Amino acid sequence: ANGIRVAIDGPSGSGKSSVSKKVAAHLGIGYLDTGAMYRALTWYCLDRGIDLDDLGVVADAVTAMPLEMGTDPSAPSISMGGTRIDADIRTTRIAEVVSKVATNLQVRPKLQQRQRELMAQIAADQGGVVAEGRDITTVVAPDADVRILMVASEAARLARRSKELHGGADDAAIAATRTQIVDRDKADSTVSSFMSAADGVVTLDTSDLTFQQSVEAVLTLVERAR
Ligand code: C5P
Repeated sequence: ANGIRVAIDGPSGSGKSSVSKKVAAHLGIGYLDTGAMYRALTWYCLDRGIDLDDLGVVADAVTAMPLEMGTDPSAPSISMGGTRIDADIRTTRIAEVVSKVATNLQVRPKLQQRQRELMAQIAADQGGVVAEGRDITTVVAPDADVRILMVASEAARLARRSKELHGGADDAAIAATRTQIVDRDKADSTVSSFMSAADGVVTLDTSDLTFQQSVEAVLTLVERAR
């Protein structure tokens, strides 16, 4: 068998990363964080002094960069030429400019193709895959066995991200988070439609769900598809 393919899209703070990892670990299958690939490409371009406005040069970097995605959901890793860059790609420096790379229309088809190939390979090697991002259910794997759009109210998303990024959810932290994620989602949604579900995609609203309840809701959808 080729293994089950689960596609999960959604905006920042919807819970898709933590839920995707937990679901993949529970099912004993692989995990692919496609957002990390846009972040890694951004990191690589900055490291090489590539001007992010130089659209063609940035797109060429997709094939040139020696990116390795570690797909164990309990310990996912991102390396560039053998060096771990997991922490480096989560910095504000990257978050602030990643949309510029993600909205580069010469970049997207190349990364999407790479993601398609990785999903097939991980599914075959590890009995299945959970891939998360913004356009997995619609562009990368519209034929996935399970397709979920994970959403949450803006208030819920801001509170979650604020705790992650600033260690709290007071007014100042919420304000700082708002500029970081709401603005980024707005820019990202100009190229991927992850704010509403496409045909055949199940919407899962996690605003009032605990982490464990969100995981169980996804597992139920996977069970139904098996
Ligand atoms: O999910 P994460 O915040 O790590 O994604 C980083 C950025 O990568 C997003 O802001 C978006 O610009 C881009 N992205 C994308 N398509 C995906 C996944 C992420 O454009 N499938």
